[in-house]
Amino acid sequence: EAAEFIKNGGIVAFPTETVFGLGANVFDETAIAKIFIAKNRPNDNPLIAHVSDESQISSLVSTVNKSAEDFINAFFPAPLTLVLQKSSKVPLVATANLQTIGVRMPRHDLAREFIERCGVPLVAPSANLSGKPSPTTWQAVYQDLNGKINAILQGSQGEIGIESTVVDCTTDVPQILRLGAITLEDLRRIAPETIFANIESNKSPGLRHKHYAPNAKVILVKDSSQIVSSRNAAFIGIEPFDNQFEIARICHDIEDYARNVFEFFRECDARNISKIYCQTVDEKGFGAALMDRLKRAAQ
Ligand code: TXA
Ligand code: MG
Repeated sequence: EAAEFIKNGGIVAFPTETVFGLGANVFDETAIAKIFIAKNRPNDNPLIAHVSDESQISSLVSTVNKSAEDFINAFFPAPLTLVLQKSSKVPLVATANLQTIGVRMPRHDLAREFIERCGVPLVAPSANLSGKPSPTTWQAVYQDLNGKINAILQGSQGEIGIESTVVDCTTDVPQILRLGAITLEDLRRIAPETIFANIESNKSPGLRHKHYAPNAKVILVKDSSQIVSSRNAAFIGIEPFDNQFEIARICHDIEDYARNVFEFFRECDARNISKIYCQTVDEKGFGAALMDRLKRAAQ
């Protein structure tokens, strides 16, 4: 049923291992325009194309260069998006007028099955209102987009909880545009020359915009000595603090923290919390990706 909506030019939210996406047929300009309207997404922010298997990649890109081929073989399906030169078949509304396109094969089985049933790759940004925390449950999608989209494929919550790593493979050396669960170390095992993109290069248009922001003020803290007041405040982190918070979420590890953080932000907003203290983590491996999201939310 969900695939029928896509085939008829509609837009459908679906689960992935990172966050829920809001999908449309990558070759249908009218359907893609509906995504930007439903999310209130700025027109200069390009979309990621999601594929169910490798055979769909060739319809999206003009060439797959060596580094991309190596990443595909090593990781796909994965929380990893590769930016490549787009094919002429991909409309410019999908890529915000760029000649490149992000390609990702999700690890979530239902996501791949859904794309396969649609018969075409799906462009899909996160299925939230622009600027809001990304949705990790179907209820979060419903809260933001009910009445604006054709359907939500419920599925199960993603194992990761923050968005995919984005790597530009069109340059001489691969450049990381956004951090995610595939870490710098993972990428360097396959392509040792991989670097972080220079932020000023403005290569990832999406990063210019405000992100992941709950209504509450997000404050990053290392330990409990930095808590000024716990009145009407919430806490999420790995170590329990002594303060009396309105709500506190103690996570087992960095993975558990990442899986819960966006949903926790939404819960805090529903309960009219005014400040959310987030404990910082070491910026190593997956911790670097989590810290990237926390810092953006705190801006
Ligand atoms: O995990 C994910 O990637 C999720 C799920 C649904 O797959 N999707 C997602 O999409 O996070 P979105 O639209 O919220 O974020 C896409 C990011 C933006 O920062 C955008 O600027 C960047 O990827 N991006 C997409 N296409 C690009 C391109 N051709 N060149 C550079 N950056 C691109
Ligand atoms: Mg997003």
